[in-house]
Amino acid sequence: MNKLIAPSVLAADFGNLQRDVEMINNSKADWFHIDVMDGVFVPNISFGMPVISAIKKHAKKTMDVHLMIVNPDRFIEDFKKVGADILTVHYEACTHLHRTVQAIKAAGMKTGVSLNPHTPIAVLEDIIKDLDVVLIMSVNPGFGGQSFIENTYKKVQQLKALIVYSEANTLIEVDGGVTDQNIEQLSEAGADAFVAGSFVFKSENPTNTIADLKNLVCPS
Ligand code: DX5
Ligand code: ZN
Repeated sequence: MNKLIAPSVLAADFGNLQRDVEMINNSKADWFHIDVMDGVFVPNISFGMPVISAIKKHAKKTMDVHLMIVNPDRFIEDFKKVGADILTVHYEACTHLHRTVQAIKAAGMKTGVSLNPHTPIAVLEDIIKDLDVVLIMSVNPGFGGQSFIENTYKKVQQLKALIVYSEANTLIEVDGGVTDQNIEQLSEAGADAFVAGSFVFKSENPTNTIADLKNLVCPS
């Protein structure tokens, strides 16, 4: 099965955004991972619609938009307009998650739900069949460059079991502290897509680093 690498644009050089977007276009990456933070759901603010539009202008791959914002329902149509292909909301930020997920689907995007490190997989039992992606946070959301939380392997296994049991077609994505030291074990546990920010952009050659990560999970 094809495993997917999603470099996180949060770790890019915003002064050279077009250059970094082209780097991802020309690499073995599969998705653009785009982190939107509102300073309320998480203690940090990243960027919003104008920046996502600017990325979309050049991006030639799937736009995987991760919303770390309260009340995401307010902006679903707007994220579609600026080019989101997958729209992921946080379980912890949605009182009426089923309604939110249906609205994302109705707007013509793939549906994603993210879980914070403390949130158990079991809360997804009654919605898993509606989800294209579950994004498991392997750090507390809000910042790039944090250390990977080891309990994530167990959560990936539990989610995989839920997906198989429910006969769902959901992809498992892992976000936070992903490196060449944990990506294989995550893949063996059942993960399909891997977000990597600092590990890619702080490396000497981001294009090669993306290729190395891809080769670890999809040996050619
Ligand atoms: C964290 C974001 C991540 C972040 C990952 O809140 O959701 O996508 O960019 O960055 P690294 O790979 O540096 O942990
Ligand atoms: Zn993210």
